[in-house]
Amino acid sequence: MTAPKGNIRRAASGGSNERTYSMTNTTGAARKNNKKSGLQGVDGNETQQDDAANPERNWFGYTRVDPREKTARVLGVFDNVAGRYDIMNDAMSMGIHRLWKNRLIRDIRPQPHERFLDVAGGTGDIAFRLFEATNRNAAITVCDINANMLEVGRDRALDRGYGNALEWVTGNAEALPFPSATTTTDGFGGFDVYTIAFGLRNVTHIDKALTDAARVLKSGGRFYCLEFSHVDNPILRRAYDAYSNAIIPRMGQAITNDSDSYQYLVESIRQFPRREALKARLIEAGFSRASYTTLTHGVVCIHCAIK
Ligand SMILES: C[S@@+](CC[C@H](N)C(=O)[O-])C[C@H]1O[C@@H](n2cnc3c(N)ncnc32)[C@H](O)[C@@H]1O
Repeated sequence: MTAPKGNIRRAASGGSNERTYSMTNTTGAARKNNKKSGLQGVDGNETQQDDAANPERNWFGYTRVDPREKTARVLGVFDNVAGRYDIMNDAMSMGIHRLWKNRLIRDIRPQPHERFLDVAGGTGDIAFRLFEATNRNAAITVCDINANMLEVGRDRALDRGYGNALEWVTGNAEALPFPSATTTTDGFGGFDVYTIAFGLRNVTHIDKALTDAARVLKSGGRFYCLEFSHVDNPILRRAYDAYSNAIIPRMGQAITNDSDSYQYLVESIRQFPRREALKARLIEAGFSRASYTTLTHGVVCIHCAIK
C-alpha cells in the first residue's frame, strides 16, 4: 500500500519546548531532515564531565568515533536497513523479539486514558502493541531520529487500518521535541508512560536521553526501557557470542545486503551499560524506584523507573 505522504512531523528544533513541526514527504527529504533533526543541538557544548558520564558517546560498536560522527553513523545504519528491518528482526531473533515486546506491554499494563511516548519507536512495533492493548483508544506518539524508519511505521499503521490515530514525530531522544511536563500551560501536562525499545543502545549520550525522558514525563509517570543486555552464565554467553558474531552479520548480508549494520548491532550490544550501572544512571537522571527484569538469561532486560 502506498501511504499518503506528509504526516510525519519533524521537530523544528530539538531540546526546546517548541511544538512547531514541518512536514517531510520524500525519502530524499527524509534524509536531509534526518541530518537536521538528528544532529541539531546535542553535541555543541561538550565538557569533560559529559565525557566521563557518557562513555558510549565515543563508541560506534568497537570503533572509536567523534560523538557527532556516532549519531550520523547510527542514522546511516537505520537508513540502510529501514525497508527490511522487520523481516530481519524476526530472522535474527527467531521471532523471540515479539515475546520480549509482548512481555514489555504486559509489564506496562497500558490503560486507555494514558498518554504514551515511544521513543526510538522505529517501525511502530511497541506503539502498535500499546494501541491494541488499549482497545485502540490511547494517545500514542512515536518519536524517532530516523524519518525513513518512521515512514515504514506510518505505512504499517495505515495497512493495519489505524489511519492517522498515531502521531509520528522525528526527533532525537537526547533533546525531545516536546514540552517539559512541569512547564506546560496548554493542558498537555506531560506523558504518562515513556518507552524505548532497542533504542537506548544507539543513543550517543545516554544520560541526556534519560534526563530528557524525565523532563517530558508527568510526576509519577513511568519509564520503560527494553534493551539487549548481558548473559551472565559463561557457557550460555559463549554460545550466544558465537551465534551473534558468526551468524547475525551474515544474515544481515543475506537479508538486507548489509553486513556492516548488523556487525554494529552485535558490537553495540556488548558496549551497552550493565544492568546495575544503568539503574544507577536512571536514579542520577532524576527517577526513583528504578528496577529491572532480565529475560532469556539476560539476553535482554526491561528497565523500569518512576518520575
Ligand atoms: C533497533 S531500532 C528499534 C525500533 C523499535 N523500537 C523496535 O523495537 O522495533 C532502533 C531505533 O532507534 C532509533 N534511534 C537511534 N538513535 C536515536 C536517537 N538518538 N533518538 C531517537 N531515535 C534514535 C533508530 O533510528 C531506530 O529506529
